[in-house]
Amino acid sequence: MHAPSSLSTLLLLSLAAVSMFLADSFARAGYVTVMPDLFGGVPAPGDINVPGFNTTELLDRRSPDVTDPIVANTIEYIHTKLGVVFAAHPGLLQSSEILAVEGPVAVAAGDHDNLFTAELRNELEALLLMVAQPYQVSLYSGTGHGFAVRMDLNDPQQKFAKQESFLQAVRWFGHFL
Ligand SMILES: *[C@@H]1O[C@H](CO)[C@@H](O)[C@H](O)[C@H]1NC(C)=O
Repeated sequence: MHAPSSLSTLLLLSLAAVSMFLADSFARAGYVTVMPDLFGGVPAPGDINVPGFNTTELLDRRSPDVTDPIVANTIEYIHTKLGVVFAAHPGLLQSSEILAVEGPVAVAAGDHDNLFTAELRNELEALLLMVAQPYQVSLYSGTGHGFAVRMDLNDPQQKFAKQESFLQAVRWFGHFL
């Protein structure tokens, strides 16, 4: 595994508070990691399948017109300090945003992700073929939405996917940063 060659900053975007543990892991790997509060203090629960939690409602409440200014402010803050790399959310990206990408792209997808579906994944791959940037798309079996931050560690497939996708990200940053 590469150590970061210079002090690099990661921007982690998530609507789930449990992603803070992932931010801590990247920080331990040597990256300055910034995770803005995109969920207005009311994050998604650790398990989005708990009764009473409504993903659609959260995504409506924290739509791009609400979260984009927060991301823009955060990027401006980071730009005054260091370089920035995106860890965005492929399920929520528009085709035009993918086509406009200006750097290498890495995707770690769960095969049973109900938000980033197989159809969206195929669409993303087709778009990436049109973009003149290096990319990596990895698909992990037996995993659902958010498997890198919430998973059942007693399930060997999910445990493997969580660890492997983290190493994928760290190796990818080490190579492309
Ligand atoms: C979830 O939220 C959406 C949008 O607010 C609403 O239309 C839908 O009925 C809700 N679903 C449930 C199960 O409450």
